[in-house]
Amino acid sequence: MRLAVLSLAPLAHAFVLPSWDVGRWAADAVDSAEGVLGGDETQKTIWAQIKEDEKYTRLVKILEFEGTVKKELDHADSGYDITFFAPNNEALTPPKHDHDHDGDHDGDHDGDHDHDHDGDHHSVAPTLAYISQALDEQPWLLEDNEFYFGGKDKDDDKNKKRRKRIMKKIAHAVLKYHILPQAHDAQSLAQNSTMATALRPHDGSADGLPRRIHIAKSVVPPALTLNFYARVQSSASARNGQLHELDHPLLPPGSIFDEMFVASKWLSTTTSAVQRAGGARHLDWGYDREKSKPGKPVFSGTPLATFFAPSNAAWDALPPRLHFFLFSRFGRHALAKLLMYHAVPHTLVLSEEVHHAKHKHKGGKHADAEGDDPSFRREFDVHSALNGTKLHIVAEKKRIVPIEGAVRISMKVNDQDVKVLDVPASNGAWHVIDKVLCPPHEHKKGYNAYADPWADWEDWFPAWAEGVQVQA
Ligand SMILES: *[C@@H]1O[C@H](CO)[C@@H](O)[C@H](O)[C@H]1NC(C)=O
Repeated sequence: MRLAVLSLAPLAHAFVLPSWDVGRWAADAVDSAEGVLGGDETQKTIWAQIKEDEKYTRLVKILEFEGTVKKELDHADSGYDITFFAPNNEALTPPKHDHDHDGDHDGDHDGDHDHDHDGDHHSVAPTLAYISQALDEQPWLLEDNEFYFGGKDKDDDKNKKRRKRIMKKIAHAVLKYHILPQAHDAQSLAQNSTMATALRPHDGSADGLPRRIHIAKSVVPPALTLNFYARVQSSASARNGQLHELDHPLLPPGSIFDEMFVASKWLSTTTSAVQRAGGARHLDWGYDREKSKPGKPVFSGTPLATFFAPSNAAWDALPPRLHFFLFSRFGRHALAKLLMYHAVPHTLVLSEEVHHAKHKHKGGKHADAEGDDPSFRREFDVHSALNGTKLHIVAEKKRIVPIEGAVRISMKVNDQDVKVLDVPASNGAWHVIDKVLCPPHEHKKGYNAYADPWADWEDWFPAWAEGVQVQA
């Protein structure tokens, strides 16, 4: 896991904020949305604006080094409107104590493969801050190729060329993750819980769907926060789209399994349960060091899935004897099955979108509003990773009157409220719930529907766990 340490603390906010954020900020954000969406010919392009703004000198250096993305940002033809998230100089100034980039849980969680991201077989978080620092410390990266690499030391030359090529590739991918392929001002961003970026995977993950960013709104002070850690500081419109200043660079997400580790403070019971029950391969996706050959990277794990992760509080709320059973050596297989009941293989389940890797999703009951109204209510079933079992999902987006442009997005799984929804991962998405989902079962006679669904677990759960099979 190579998430920069900076992403740890801010992720915390996701768990202390209410899961629904009233969009009062929207009223205040109107100022920033005054610009004409879709571009104004009298305005400068995004690139021109960044280039002449002192607060983006570090970003400009990276864009000049990378070379192709700046052309996209300078595209002035109509029909190419985009959104660009621009980390400011402060965001790209490396922290003084930078030795903690390599997260401490990178050991072999399940002993079968390694965890590099997106084919960048690199041992530090490939953030724009890291690239900015590398360009400062290794100025030869910015020198002209032909001219510079004519030295006597052939090996050194070759090595430098290689490093430069890798660095450019990383910069390209990470910059693409800062672009949305349509223009969205602040108000428009706040209407959605996630959005697809211009970064498409090349590792076989996510059924080829673009990597997504998570967008959270907070009320006091009015603010937009991307991926739980990057705040939008200011917004401006440009000739070819919208420009938003960020106080942290964005980092393309890791696998569901990796990302959950970042939130261990709330999810440590789930992450250790997944490891204990041998479930990591169902939630993980990464570079396979053993199977890869030079120039032929192999990725393994599960390329697309959705996981409903019970919080620590959810596990604590189980009957004590059940908790003891699940985490004892006798309950290991039952624990594995119970976890897999929370996983939806081959499918991306977001509040706003469902995508199945193999067949077109049928969609269930829909109630979508017409025209400009983004409201909807969708109700559908998805197959869990256990043969023959389903999860019932209700996703809803509601307008909050009287605040213009404000929406509330919510989701339920088997009637349980999802507490943190739509967290993007390289191989799908995950959500946090405060109850361990209870599989459907026959209650014993006299069961009271208001009682804890786990109350009579001893009568059915061990047999249920014996009987169900994890999908091949
Ligand atoms: C935002 O969500 C709506 C559903 O409310 C969806 O139709 C639309 O495509 C989403 N926009 C983006 C950019 O993802």
